[in-house]
Amino acid sequence: MLKKLSLVAVSAVAFASGAFAAGDAGHTHDVDFSYEGPFGTYDQNQLQRGLQVYTEVCSSCHGLKFVPMRTLADEGGPMLPEDQMKAYAKAFPINDELANPQLFDKDLEEYRTLKPTDNFPALESANAPDLSLMAKARSGFHGPYGLGINQFVNGIGGAEYIASILTGYTGEEKEEAGTTFYENTAFPGGWIAMAPPLYGDDVEYADGHSADLHHVAEDVAAFLRWTAEPHQDARKRTGFVAVFFLIILTVLLYLTNKRLWAPIKRKG
Ligand code: HEC
Repeated sequence: MLKKLSLVAVSAVAFASGAFAAGDAGHTHDVDFSYEGPFGTYDQNQLQRGLQVYTEVCSSCHGLKFVPMRTLADEGGPMLPEDQMKAYAKAFPINDELANPQLFDKDLEEYRTLKPTDNFPALESANAPDLSLMAKARSGFHGPYGLGINQFVNGIGGAEYIASILTGYTGEEKEEAGTTFYENTAFPGGWIAMAPPLYGDDVEYADGHSADLHHVAEDVAAFLRWTAEPHQDARKRTGFVAVFFLIILTVLLYLTNKRLWAPIKRKG
């Protein structure tokens, strides 16, 4: 019992002091994204900027094969105007033909251009993971002691993890078995095989927003959070309507209950 109590005390103190860098797990810094909290929604401009970063930088190595092109025009997403979305799909290059046999047109005997109903092409040749669901596949915050309290307070942190990876390079590199690894404070194990893809000012934003390293990193992270969780805004709205109706139902049930029992209670 005493032992248990002291463990609780120790973990409480350690948690309070935030002393939980989980060994080799890497460090994720917190970012205040607009979509956080029960009322948060995606920032449409940020998603458009993130799409630009993905298109101009990440798409040469990473696919987004679970994301349909047409969803770029959806409400609760980047909301590109319909004609822009169509033009975007048409212009999108297929960097890895072997990974996209569905885009081969047998009549033309060549690869056709993308349509809004197509998904982003798959990309396997660069040995880089598909990013469609990456923001959900990784978590940035852990513990303490596997309790998940940090995730309860800060969120799961998938997008923060991505932003931290992109800004976490130390500049050190090493070569092992013919592969170059780059030191990265956010990547578990500390060494990642992806060369730093962003340095700041990698893109020029049409809305005049700053393209500092941490801004481009956060923008593309928010965009990748949307690709992994595209219906979040609609889901939150539905949730509020549901809770509103449940409150009304609760009041009605309470009144009904009172009424039903009224004659019986009066006799007593
Ligand atoms: C030159 C090719 C290249 C470019 C450009 C590139 N990446 Fe990568 N990326 C890789 C490779 C290779 C890996 C696998 C690294 C490993 O597992 O060590 C990777 C891994 C990742 C991971 C996964 C880390 C993990 O936890 O497994 C994320 C997230 C990521 N990249 C995001 C991005 C984003 C966002 C961009 C654009 C800003 C980008 N990458 C641009 C090659 C690239």
